[in-house]
Formats: sequence, C-alpha cells, structure tokens
Amino acid sequence: MDRIRLRGGRPLRGSIPIGGAKNAALPLMAAALLSEGPLVLTNAPALDDTRTMAGLLAQHGLSVDHDTNARTMTLGGTATNLVAPYDLVRKMRASVLVLGPLLARYREAKVSLPGGCAIGTRPVDLHLKGLEEMGAKIDLDSGYMNATAPEGLRGAKIYFTQVSVGATENLLMAATLADGMTELVNAAREPEIDDLAHCLIAMGARIEGIGTDRLRIEGVKALHGATHPIVPDRIEAGTFACAAGITGGEVLLEGAKLEHLGTVARVLREAGVEVEEAPNSKNTGGVIVKRLSGLRGVDVMTEPFPGFATDMQAQFMALMAVAEGASMITETIFENRFMHVPEMNRMGARINVHGSSAIVRGVSRLSGAPVMATDLRASVSLILAGLAAGGETIVNRVYHLDRGYERLEAKLAAVGADIERLPG
Ligand code: UD1
Repeated sequence: MDRIRLRGGRPLRGSIPIGGAKNAALPLMAAALLSEGPLVLTNAPALDDTRTMAGLLAQHGLSVDHDTNARTMTLGGTATNLVAPYDLVRKMRASVLVLGPLLARYREAKVSLPGGCAIGTRPVDLHLKGLEEMGAKIDLDSGYMNATAPEGLRGAKIYFTQVSVGATENLLMAATLADGMTELVNAAREPEIDDLAHCLIAMGARIEGIGTDRLRIEGVKALHGATHPIVPDRIEAGTFACAAGITGGEVLLEGAKLEHLGTVARVLREAGVEVEEAPNSKNTGGVIVKRLSGLRGVDVMTEPFPGFATDMQAQFMALMAVAEGASMITETIFENRFMHVPEMNRMGARINVHGSSAIVRGVSRLSGAPVMATDLRASVSLILAGLAAGGETIVNRVYHLDRGYERLEAKLAAVGADIERLPG
C-alpha cells in the first residue's frame, strides 16, 4: 500500500492547476444513463472514484472512454444490465446515483444498499421516498433496492425534510424523463448541482430554479447527447488554499472559482489568509491565496451550501491547530467526522471533541509523526498538518487520497513542498 512522506516547514509558492470536481463528475457520469448519448465531459478528473463510477457504468453496458491526456470522458449506449452490485456500491456510496436515471429510462433498477461508511450512517431514505412519490415501487430485499415503475415515473412535488446533495441529484435526473412537472423543494444548492442541471439542459432537459432551493423540472420524452465542461473542484481549491495558509505561502489556484469558495473564503480571510480573484481571470477562473500575517482562531459550523462545506472541515481544523487562540468547529452534516482529531493530537495539536463540536487550541508548532486516516478529507488534513510540522510525517493508507485528489503530492511538490509517494 502506498504511503506519502513529507517534511514540513516550507512556504508554498507558485501555481496549482485545479481539476474538474469529483462531486460533479460522479453525478454527471451517472447522467449518461439517461440518453443514448454520447455525453462528452471535458475537464474530467482522473480519480479512483471516477474510475469506480466508470466501472459501474461499464458493467451496466455503457461504453466509457476516458482520454486522460485530453481530460475528456465520452459515455454512451444502452444499459443491458440494470443491477448495481454490492461490490461496487460498497466501494463508493455515490454509486447510488445510478438509481434515479436507470428507473427513469428503463423503468427498473436493482441497486445495492450502500450501508454506513467511516463518516456516518448515511441513509438513502430521502432518495427512496422521493422516487416513490414519483410512482416507483421499491422493495428492500437481501441488501438490495428493487425498484420498478412499469408505467414510467410521473412528476411530483417533493419536499425534502433534510438538505441532501445526493437525493437532490438522483431526483433531478429522474425527473428529466418523468411524465409532467416535478418540483424539488428544500433542494441542495451546491455548485455541483447547478453543474448537473446545466448538463441536463444541454441534453434536452427542461429545468428552472437553478441555484435556488426550489428546482422545477418538466419531464421530456427523451434526452440526447451533449458536451459539457465539468466545474472546477472547489474542495480541491479550498484544500490547497489551506495548504498555502498553513505554510505561510502564496499560490495561484488556476481555474478555481472564487464564488464557489463562498463561506470557506470568508472564513479563511477571518483567520488571516488573503483570498482574492486573480487579475484578468473572469473567464479562465483563478484565485490567489496568501498569508502575510499570523493565523487567528475562528469558529465555524458546517452547513449545506452556501454554508461552510463539511468536506473542508478537517482541512480547516489543521489550519486552526496552529492558529493563535482557540477555534470551535461544529460538524452538523455527518455524525462521525472527527476521526482526524486523535491523529492530529499525535502530531502535537490540542483538540478536544465534545459531541458534534471540536475545541481547537492553537499551538505554535506541530511535530511530524506516522499517521493514518479512514476517509478522504481526514487524510488530506493530516498532509496539511504535516506541511506545518517540524520533522517527518508519513501518511499511511494513501488510497483514501487517491479517491478524490489527482496527483496531490506532485501538485504540492511543484509549489515547493518536500513531499513524495513511497510505493508500497
Ligand atoms: C455529498 C458529497 C459529499 C459531501 C456531502 C455533504 C458527493 C459524491 N458526495 O454526499 O462529499 O460530504 O454531499 O455536502 O457529492 N441523509 C439522510 N437521508 C438521505 C440522504 C442523506 O438522512 O436519504 C443525510 C446524510 O446522512 C447526511 C446529510 O443528509 O447527514 C447530508 O448528506 P448528503 O448531502 O446526501 O450527502 P451525499 O450526497 O452522500
């Protein structure tokens, strides 16, 4: 198993290219099930999770071609197998995003229940309830969701009792081919959902209310192929912004969109990290991040977009671990998302967890240590801590990082970090 070795203490300086968003790519790939295609996705990241989704779609019968040099993915064809098996869904929960599209186009799907994961129980009840309101019949049997809609799905007004990114995406995709009008109320508003909606419109869907918590979708008979550029990854950008902040450096995040960093940018500024749009970058995107003074403790609470992203919580905690003063970080989205805390404490951080809040008392210096984490963002937070630490840090279980970051160590090394991958 690969490991990453790094030695901290070097301010990062230079440019980091930001890739297409993992959390946009996965639903966009699932959207290929809605039409014969071809669906051409540009700015497609090469990640373990996108490879898992490609494998899932291929076993459904789609053709999937990812030209990693051109960063272009071409998907299309007809599903010949409507089963999403346990072995793939278990590896990646976003696999459940095939349920809505399969049911909408083929009127039938059998998808393994994803089960819990390291950061929490993560049920899919909102996905199922919404599809049932659209006329689907869903039986749970032997760990699988057996869904049918012999007459096809029909439009419905769906109120989400909780904001869910995945449920909004599943129902948005399903509604594009339903009979009549669907309204999704209390829908998630993440930029990745806007991106999916724009791609679906390019495929022939009729959607209104993009960017709001109320999406209206008028079903059409069929969708067609399209070409769509995947939105830049705001979590990758936010992660590298924290890397610049924690090392006291200055980096240009090429292609990043400041408006998607939203609350994360605001909180970083409060903490003493400057975040601004790069000059002349209106069309190309680009954000400059630099730290000129010391870091200050800031309280944050994770929330659905436009609030502070739960996917940035661990990385921000690394920054707070070396800030002056204290910070209270409250996690409201997932119940078990502080697994990086004991590992950061092993590096000299002073963090106490009380229920869903962590009190971080900043220390002047962390010290490198061998560490490991059980999920993607926790793993990268330990790399950030290592960048600020004295001595050597070895991060084990790098496969978590490879799920969501493309060439993380190469991108960090290119801006001056002392970091390398040790093949295992
Ligand atoms: C997506 C992101 C993930 C991010 C999360 C929250 C992808 C591929 N993954 O995950 O990186 O951390 O949004 O921003 O885009 N819930 C229910 N019932 C449901 C669905 C969700 O109770 O049917 C709960 C979850 O347990 C969680 C909350 O709703 O507490 C939000 O989850 P959700 O937004 O659905 O997250 P994902 O779509 O799984």
